[in-house]
Amino acid sequence: MTDRISFLLNGAPRTVSGLAPTTTVLEYLRGAERACGTKEGCAEGDCGACTVVLGEPTGDGLRYRAINGCIAFLPQLDGKLLLTVEGLAEGNALHPVQDAMVECDGSQCGFCTPGFVMALFAFQQGGEPASDDAIHEALAGNLCRCTGYRPIVEAARRVAAVRDPGFELRAPSLRAGVAALPHDGDLAIEQGGGRFFAPTSLDRLLALRAAHPDAHLLAGGTDLALLVTKEYRALDIVIAVTQVPELARIVLDDKALTIGAAATYTDALPLLERFFPSLGLMIRRLGSRQIRNAGTIGGNIANASPIGDMPPGLIALGATVALRSAAGARELALEDFFLDYRKTALRPDEIVESVRIPLPAPDALFRTYKIAKRWDQDISAVCGAYRLTIADGRVTEARIAYGGMAATPKRAARTEQALIGRAWTEATVAQAIAALADDFAPLSDWRASADYRRKVAGNLLRRLWLESAQPTLTLGVMAL
Ligand SMILES: Cc1cc2nc3c(=O)[nH]c(=O)nc-3n(C[C@H](O)[C@H](O)[C@H](O)COP(=O)(O)OP(=O)(O)OC[C@H]3O[C@@H](n4cnc5c(N)ncnc54)[C@H](O)[C@@H]3O)c2cc1C
Ligand code: FES
Ligand code: FES
Repeated sequence: MTDRISFLLNGAPRTVSGLAPTTTVLEYLRGAERACGTKEGCAEGDCGACTVVLGEPTGDGLRYRAINGCIAFLPQLDGKLLLTVEGLAEGNALHPVQDAMVECDGSQCGFCTPGFVMALFAFQQGGEPASDDAIHEALAGNLCRCTGYRPIVEAARRVAAVRDPGFELRAPSLRAGVAALPHDGDLAIEQGGGRFFAPTSLDRLLALRAAHPDAHLLAGGTDLALLVTKEYRALDIVIAVTQVPELARIVLDDKALTIGAAATYTDALPLLERFFPSLGLMIRRLGSRQIRNAGTIGGNIANASPIGDMPPGLIALGATVALRSAAGARELALEDFFLDYRKTALRPDEIVESVRIPLPAPDALFRTYKIAKRWDQDISAVCGAYRLTIADGRVTEARIAYGGMAATPKRAARTEQALIGRAWTEATVAQAIAALADDFAPLSDWRASADYRRKVAGNLLRRLWLESAQPTLTLGVMAL
């Protein structure tokens, strides 16, 4: 057990104590380190000006991923490498990503530039192709307010899939530096009125949960940190779930895919995309890559937002959620987990352990759609998800769920009944759309009016019908 946070900052070891555990990585860099290259634009994960790169041990190497420093707490660095824009150049020699930004005139204001450089560095280290899609995805979490994207994209093209011999030479010593960190066992920090625990075993996590039922559980922090950075709330006790190996597991068997509550979206994406392509496309629109590198499906479920992107699709797929406390485990159908607005069936001593998604039968029709004001980086106004089995032209099974239509993500029971046993025709779909009014009485808010939500919910079901009738519509953008 230790009360010190140990990490490498651009290769140099740091051991930090004496700071409140909810100090953000960005605050630490700009304050304690006076490393002011990393900027604060929004302090809520939207603009990317604070992008830094985490190097996390994997086997015998390090895996580099971009995150938002403004919504990461300092203890989340423990045992890892933190790279910032100050750490890329070697002496007077710029890193190839920085060179590309200079040569392509990618830096106009300079304020957003360090964030772009770090996002591009992670993109290059990931060995991704120079395709428009890959570049768009890598940069969607970085805003350029002067609209100078073209030269930045050009810089991305230059560095994509290009080897980085200078950094390859540094990599072994960075890996050795991380291995040499005094990073043993559980973190337990008490400082400035806040307590932070990061247990490394499931038993100790559950014991801490039982001892501190009012504590905030922390996974990626992409929701939780905003309580600190936007609402200026003090979090008295925080318990991180991310250091428990069992919770990071992703297990595929012949019946289901089970995703641990601490597995990030980025970790889960390859298998989700393989078995549930529509859910995979949805995840690619969830937040930005920085958000997906930290955020978890477990956090999306536990946070119980009525407009979270994952629950409707998971409910339609018949997912169950495993809950665990020191007293034992139980499993609930996901739709039964959500009780009321931001109210769940989770008991004070329980944690979300994992979500289990049954693999769909080969003939099942599954789609999940998101309607938001922007394509990237926006929360849904309405989310609709559908899993249908159609045999000999008739609907034999229907599971339908919506987000943004009620106080919780919710199944559309009457709409399902309007489909089951009927011919899968336009007329049946029209009747099912009419039945949506029996299932939902949506509210108006600043995202959308009640009328708009009603209309869109019906249109999404109609879209499912059109796509099933004309499979070519399911390609690319139309699948969303
Ligand atoms: C810029 C930005 C864009 C975003 N875009 C989207 C979007 O497009 N769609 C969307 O749905 N969401 C979006 N989000 C919200 C957020 O990223 C997701 O909800 C994410 O899945 C939260 O996961 P997390 O691991 O970061 O959770 P955290 O922030 O760590 O936790 C969220 C909540 O769950 C609780 N919790 C976490 N793990 C557990 C556990 N194992 N057991 C019990 N409780 C637990 C926490 O106590 C907290 O209340 C966005 C957020 C930001 C900042
Ligand atoms: S400061 Fe805007 S994403 Fe962090
Ligand atoms: S280059 Fe910074 S806002 Fe455009």
